[in-house]
Amino acid sequence: MPGFEIFGDEERKEVQDVLETGVLFRYGFDAVRGGHWKARSFEAELARKVGVEHCHLCSSGTSAVSLALAACGVGAGDEVIVPPFTFVATIEAVLLAGAVPIFADVDETLCLDPAAIEKAIGPRTKAVMPVHMCGSMARIDQIADLCKKHDVRLIEDTAQAVGATFHGRGLGSFGDMGCFSFDAVKTITCGEGGATVTNDSRLHEIATQYADHGHDHAGADRGADEHPILGTNYRICELNAAVGLAQLRKLDRIVEIQRGHKNKLKAALSQYAEISFREIPDPEGDSATFLTFFLPNEARAREASAELAKAGVDGCFYWYDNNWHYIRKWNHFREMRSSAPLPQSLLAKIPDLGGEHLEQSNRVVGRAISMLIKLSWTEADTDERIRRMAGVFA
Ligand SMILES: Cc1ncc(COP(=O)(O)O)c(C=O)c1O
Repeated sequence: MPGFEIFGDEERKEVQDVLETGVLFRYGFDAVRGGHWKARSFEAELARKVGVEHCHLCSSGTSAVSLALAACGVGAGDEVIVPPFTFVATIEAVLLAGAVPIFADVDETLCLDPAAIEKAIGPRTKAVMPVHMCGSMARIDQIADLCKKHDVRLIEDTAQAVGATFHGRGLGSFGDMGCFSFDAVKTITCGEGGATVTNDSRLHEIATQYADHGHDHAGADRGADEHPILGTNYRICELNAAVGLAQLRKLDRIVEIQRGHKNKLKAALSQYAEISFREIPDPEGDSATFLTFFLPNEARAREASAELAKAGVDGCFYWYDNNWHYIRKWNHFREMRSSAPLPQSLLAKIPDLGGEHLEQSNRVVGRAISMLIKLSWTEADTDERIRRMAGVFA
């Protein structure tokens, strides 16, 4: 997810605006900031792109997920339905909110399976949090219907899928709240940064307060602000926001380049009988950060992954054996290892964080390989990849 690959003069110019004023803070200093409001500008432009009313830019994707949980009122003992295939941040945010992650299976979209969500919904379910993994979408229309039917909150972890849409509508806009990440390896980057989006002005208000120690941001004098709720510091710095603003303006071009490379590689792999592809509910809306394909079984997927690396086809991830993205290696959650006792340890029943029941997810993720798509590839580079892949699959 290569926003950093096209860091250039545009980013330098936005950062320079901030450096010239010396106002690195997103709030206040109105008279001396030379009219530069980088965080605010980013928020307005991302909201327009996703097609929502409100956006709040914050310090990371992890803090965005925490803000969404806080705004949706998810707390002590509440259950949140999550996938076992995500980055650990999704689960950390749920645990640190004092809530209980309930793992439900993913299907061949690599995202939560609506049927598995429905089975997992119970009286304590407060929210469902699908994660739009690897640049593409969950069956978000069906999941939204389910959440409505059961009257539970829908929070979309869209950290990995900025620029992706489902039937023309931006991912992140289907839920009560959507969350984005702009860390160093995302489609666009702030260096570090994240954002929440929503159409609900009340949820937006709580998120902006929670991210800034509960400040109500009512007047020009921060010192005179009231604090309607307890909060913390998830603020973004103007320098990070400035980088993100330049990157956001490149998003359409990034996605277009990714789609070109991905289509070419996918067409090349389509000729091999042993390969099938990740299901994408709306292929037109794929942001194309990865090409994910399936091998017939776990053994062959592991073998092909090693052969691709040996052939010099870089950036191919076998998530099933990965420490960060699949539940199998999340022993610290399973054993509830933390620096201090977690709130969940006070529950009458300690949550099951092992996911032993997730046979469908094991079958899906165990056969999957995701190939990273890079912006900097030339035609000759993609031709060479295709030649090397032929050595593995032909
Ligand atoms: C699905 C998902 N959620 C949340 C995050 C957290 O984002 P950040 O690294 O900006 O805190 C990530 C980052 O990799 C992610 O992939």
